[in-house]
Order: sequence, then structure tokens, then C-alpha cells
Amino acid sequence: MTDKSRPEFLGGPFSRRLGLLISGRGSNLQAIIDAIGEKSLDAEIAVVISNRADAAGLERAKQAGIETLVVDNQDQTRFPTRDEYDRELVKQLRNRNVELVCLAGFMRRLGAVFIQAFPNAILNIHPSLLPAFPGMNAQHQAWEHGVKYTGVTVHLVTAELDGGPIVLQDAVAVQDDDGPDQLAARILEQEHRLYPRAIQMVLDGGWRIQGRRFVKSDSFRRGG
Ligand code: GRF
Repeated sequence: MTDKSRPEFLGGPFSRRLGLLISGRGSNLQAIIDAIGEKSLDAEIAVVISNRADAAGLERAKQAGIETLVVDNQDQTRFPTRDEYDRELVKQLRNRNVELVCLAGFMRRLGAVFIQAFPNAILNIHPSLLPAFPGMNAQHQAWEHGVKYTGVTVHLVTAELDGGPIVLQDAVAVQDDDGPDQLAARILEQEHRLYPRAIQMVLDGGWRIQGRRFVKSDSFRRGG
């Protein structure tokens, strides 16, 4: 939810320090690592945090020399409530001076504690053209529905599931002979292109949130 007491939020510029949250394969994490390596994304990954010890993405981060951390949400002794889990994530990110948090296949809802700690500074990537097909298995939902176009959305994270202001979108055409897996693979390729671009835009600043709308503000960028 956008802060109602601030109808217009001026965003960024942020420091270049990213915190990545993952739960699995980590192909979007890899795309971000690669974009940084190729200098098409001017940023630094301060830490990769997974809620699962077996997330393959952890290995990708280690290979790239990035610090990794497992904060296991199933550990009921350490984290009996969602708030306690979220507070631990916030603490670990703040300890590393992270300013922009990027969810990259993080399969866990974040609560108010986390969202309020990083106002308009949490990004997520979702494999559909939101607001169509929020939630799990969005590619499959789109295929089953029979849409002719679906795609990818990068959005700011609010309390509403997959419902925050949209930063960037790209469409992917559904072919008649696509199966759900083929469609998901083409969407994933598009995700890998879109996420680094969206992160760069948000880091650079010069944008504002008007109501639900993420809009670039050239006058703000020029300091006017
Ligand atoms: C991606 O499809 C992303 O859009 C969704 O979760 C998946 C994560 O894949 N939020 P990966 O772990 O980045 O490969």
C-alpha cells in the first residue's frame, strides 16, 4: 500500500547496495549478477538471503563471491511469528547497508514489519502481466486461460499480493503450439532481460509514485 499520508512519493536515488531474497533456482539472481558483471547494471549485491538451505541460487551467489545467508522460516524456535522472521531479515539487510531489496523467486509473503522497513524500496518480479494472474504458477494460469499475450512485471512490493505499483512490464506472445513449459521458458528469458533494467531505473531515481502509478519525472531528475 502506498503511504496515504504522502500522496506523492519521490523515489531514489538509492545507494547501489542490493539485498537479494531467494528461495530456489536463482536464475533471476544470475541475470542480475551477469548484468552487474557486464556493467549494464551499476549496482553491488551486498548479500543473498534464502529462506531455504537447499536453494540452488545460493551456489550461484557463492560462485560469484557474494555473501550468502540462510534465514530458515521453518525454524519455529528462532522465529515463532512472521514478525520475528521479518525483523531478522530487516536486521541482516540493514547490517549490510542494503537500501534496495530485490525479491527473486522468494516464495514467502513479507509482512508489515518488513514492508515498512523498506518503503517503496522492495522490488519483485512476477511472470505475468499484472494485474492478470497474480499468485502461484502465473505462467500456467495464463496458458490455461488462453490469453494471446502474457508477460513479465517488475513491481514495488506492498501489503497486497503482487499488487504494488508497476515499474516495468514486457509482453510475451502465446503461440498456438505452446505448452505451459515452453511458454514459461520464454517468459523466463524475458524476466532475465527486464529485471536488471528495472533495478537500474529504480536505483537511478527520478521517479515518483502518484497513487498507484510509478512515473518517471524528468524535471525531478534535472533537479527542477
Ligand atoms: C520467476 O519466474 C519469478 O518471476 C517468480 O519466481 C521465479 C523465480 O525463478 N517470482 P528463479 O529462482 O529466479 O530462477
